[in-house]
Amino acid sequence: MTPTSLLSPASLDVVRATAPVVAAHADAITARFYPRMFAAHPELLRVFNQGNQATGEQSKALAGSVVAYAVQLIDPDAPPFDHVIRRIAYKHVSLGIRPEQYTIVGEHLLAAVGEVLGDAVTPEIAAAWSEVYWLFALQLVAEEARLYQEADIDPRRPTRQYRVVRRIEETADVISLVLEPVDGGKLPDIAPGQYVSVFVDLPDGSRQPRQYTVSSTAVHTRLQITIRRVRGTNGAPDGMVSSYLHDQVKVGDVLELSAPAGDFVVTPTDGPLLLASAGAGITTVLPIVEHIARNQPQRKVVVAHADRRAQDHALRDTVLHLGRELDDFTAYAWYETVDDGDTRSRQGYMDLTDVPLPNDVQVFTCGPLPFMRHVRTTLLERGVPATRIRYEVFGPDLWAAQSASDASSDTTAGGPYAGDRG
Ligand SMILES: Cc1cc2nc3c(=O)[nH]c(=O)nc-3n(C[C@H](O)[C@H](O)[C@H](O)COP(=O)(O)OP(=O)(O)OC[C@H]3O[C@@H](n4cnc5c(N)ncnc54)[C@H](O)[C@@H]3O)c2cc1C
Ligand code: HEM
Repeated sequence: MTPTSLLSPASLDVVRATAPVVAAHADAITARFYPRMFAAHPELLRVFNQGNQATGEQSKALAGSVVAYAVQLIDPDAPPFDHVIRRIAYKHVSLGIRPEQYTIVGEHLLAAVGEVLGDAVTPEIAAAWSEVYWLFALQLVAEEARLYQEADIDPRRPTRQYRVVRRIEETADVISLVLEPVDGGKLPDIAPGQYVSVFVDLPDGSRQPRQYTVSSTAVHTRLQITIRRVRGTNGAPDGMVSSYLHDQVKVGDVLELSAPAGDFVVTPTDGPLLLASAGAGITTVLPIVEHIARNQPQRKVVVAHADRRAQDHALRDTVLHLGRELDDFTAYAWYETVDDGDTRSRQGYMDLTDVPLPNDVQVFTCGPLPFMRHVRTTLLERGVPATRIRYEVFGPDLWAAQSASDASSDTTAGGPYAGDRG
């Protein structure tokens, strides 16, 4: 079945005519939607990331994805949307989102459309956008059901208890926590690059989830997460969960973790890899290098990392140590400030223009969005196809949302970053 055939013919015309106006008001719609929904269902405050709510990032991600979905329904030439569905479904599954909750989100989202667009929303327009919402919801519910079943997770009990068995101070503002299942059972299957949602009960009585990449499974009965402390800038508060984990959590404490989730994982081919990271993005590099050292030591790997200073470059020694177990491993580092006497590291932001790369290199990049955009631009200029560049965003995926809303302005879905996930 082609994407266009999913929407009824009547709705197709209405959505085509109204997509630009909905796209233009998408942020306003979701800005209304969340307060409405949280007022009616305060229990959901414990599932949604309140940091993202405060910065408005989740509003943008939700709005962007709904508009992008509508655009690909009305454009037969739209690129595949599967990677967006997969990313959202994984995030939902890591949070234990259940099918019945789609009725709640649908009710408040469609009511918010009415509030923002007012009388412009005729019954036909309301029906057409309800159809869009439910088509999207059905695809997500189906994908989530598949993921729950595959990992044997009961969405009503999506977490498992883990005890902190080791706490490692990696740098001045990065710690690693080594965790072991309290029930003494085996670790779940964890693909290198996947994350877990960590749920914490904060001192003020609120409960909040955050995602952390599984940075290592070097000891097969234990998994490690690595957390950068987020400090508030320009009057914003310090990060809720990262501060809690840094300041309060000690060996012996118990944390609640979801099953591993996410599709930022290396394919089991033997093609060469470039792992380009900045800041906390290094947490995705270590598990991939660890995996290659364990299973494919002949596979060529280039790692490139950017940070403020060498002292801030977390997990560096561990990555370099593992790199020695590979047949063909090269490491580059860029620091905003290079220490006197450090002749190996490069000064400034990452610049991949002269780094030797094989033709068929597969790229995994993780770090702040401007960093990843820069990496991507350089690599495209060097002839690396977009389909070979994968990225992980440590927050709601505004990159996809942005390319979707760019696309919606001319009702084509091939935004500048379409197809990034390869
Ligand atoms: C897939 C994925 C993997 C990740 N992996 C890792 C990892 O391996 N390691 C890691 O360290 N992080 C990782 N992250 C990021 C992590 O999930 C958290 O986002 C991060 O730790 C910050 O959470 P926090 O609760 O400390 O900050 P939050 O409290 O959520 O705050 C986030 C930002 O919002 C600002 N803010 C909060 N409230 C307000 C307000 N009222 N007004 C203005 N600004 C405000 C804060 O100042 C801060 O800058 C990952 C994220 C994802 C999505
Ligand atoms: C068709 C319906 C839905 C759509 C299109 C949608 C879309 C999204 C998107 C785009 C993200 C961000 C993913 C990322 O890049 O990280 C997200 C995250 C999330 N969604 Fe949904 N969602 C839907 C339904 C629901 C439902 C029913 C719930 C449950 C109440 C829910 C709860 C959440 C939560 C808690 C997050 C994480 C929020 C955060 O980290 O800030 N969603 N969703």
